Amino acid sequence: MTVLNQTGFVQPTLPDAEQVSANAELFELLRIPSVSADPAHTADMRRAADFLQRKLSALGFTARVEDTAGHPVVYADHLKAPGKPTVLIYGHYDVQPEAPIHEWKTPPFEPTVREGRLYARGATDDKGQVYAHVRGVQHLLEAGELTVNVKFLIEGEEEVGSHNLDTYLREKAQQLACDVIVISDGSRFGPDTPTVTYGLRGLSYIEVHVQGARRDLHSGSYGGAAPNPIGALAEIISKLKDDSGRVTIPGFYDGIDELTQAERDMWAGLPHSDAEFAASIGVPELPGEAGYTTLERLWARPTLDVNGIWGGYQGEGSKTVIAAKAGAKISMRLVPGQDPERITRLAQEYIPTLAPAGTSVEVKALHGGQPVKIDLDNPYVRAAGRALESVYGKAPAYTRGGGSIPIVATFREVLKAPVVLVDFGLNEDAPHSPNESFALKDYHNGILTSAAMLRELGLRNLADV
Ligand code: BES
Ligand code: MN
Ligand code: MN
Repeated sequence: MTVLNQTGFVQPTLPDAEQVSANAELFELLRIPSVSADPAHTADMRRAADFLQRKLSALGFTARVEDTAGHPVVYADHLKAPGKPTVLIYGHYDVQPEAPIHEWKTPPFEPTVREGRLYARGATDDKGQVYAHVRGVQHLLEAGELTVNVKFLIEGEEEVGSHNLDTYLREKAQQLACDVIVISDGSRFGPDTPTVTYGLRGLSYIEVHVQGARRDLHSGSYGGAAPNPIGALAEIISKLKDDSGRVTIPGFYDGIDELTQAERDMWAGLPHSDAEFAASIGVPELPGEAGYTTLERLWARPTLDVNGIWGGYQGEGSKTVIAAKAGAKISMRLVPGQDPERITRLAQEYIPTLAPAGTSVEVKALHGGQPVKIDLDNPYVRAAGRALESVYGKAPAYTRGGGSIPIVATFREVLKAPVVLVDFGLNEDAPHSPNESFALKDYHNGILTSAAMLRELGLRNLADV
């Protein structure tokens, strides 16, 4: 079936037989519960890596599973196009934990298709998106049209901070040498909008621990006289943002790259509606930093969010007790001009000063990642734009993303090659959430886009790019 849009553009479709086999292989990968955060899944991590290694070998790549101090890395290359560019495709085979399990309509590791959507943990983040590239390469190989050099680097620790990949990259810089790095591990702007993403936020992730008395206390015998760590924590959290939605940590905003008017204008022209955005997550209003639009708050402004909180009695019924401890996990999303280590240090200095009488506060650093902004003026971005246009029949939107892929900054620093982010997923795929999904149409368009992009890049000799 062909689909005509108003301009008479005929959208290419992936042949049926290819759809069937690409789906079956992705299902197989999704059945492996490769949850990087959970040591109980260590063997599954290797199974997922082995699956990818076998597949890439079968395509004619030199492929291996390489050990790190954590979960293994899959590295594969196909270098048969001398004088042509080398494209490094990065992705991750690890997934977020499936919890809360009871909210899944079908089990997270039994891929299920409902109304054209494939439901499974990792469907969009990132197994489906990285596998679209594997099948994109296969598509070209079968047509005898792979005329670029391709390297795959698929890691198993993205969801836990990519610490070992950072070391791996620095050690293997020569093996990984390339002209461009292509990543599909985020969301495009909207269902009808192909997107090139040119920025990601960075991250500083901390834990705040509040200690009160030496032990839990009877809330009758001690209440009114003893400090309450849970109340103290609530007070601290309430002071981390002011009434205009700004983070109060001193120095937090210093040195931030301000949005340019050109960028604000470009984003204002995108088909975005606050009402629809709010409705899509089931809330009546969107709170945030005053003076910025929703897209600006998401893509170009830093923020602070409590991600988890604990303390005291959580079981059935009541228990009259003043807990000795309370704690919270907090993520700070950062933008260019902010350094994660510096922000973490500022938080570690400031938050303990908010400790109410009788409590002590400790701030632990968990992990961080650098923000990135990508220069759009490069031939690889233009090639991605043409590839997207050939598949979707319209030029892509250029947007930033609110999420983080910490290894991107290391890629640029160590490999000194431009990064192109071409996302195939959507926010509504619900990555990290129960019932994560990926539209099969988006998967198939991802395969076609990957093939079109590699074809575009193969038209050029290195000397001309
Ligand atoms: N694929 C996401 C990153 C992403 C999400 C980019 C949405 C753009 C839009 C990635 O797998 C992820 O979840 N990253 C973590 C990083 C963290 C674990 C260091 C994130 O953003 O929370
Ligand atoms: Mn991801
Ligand atoms: Mn993720």
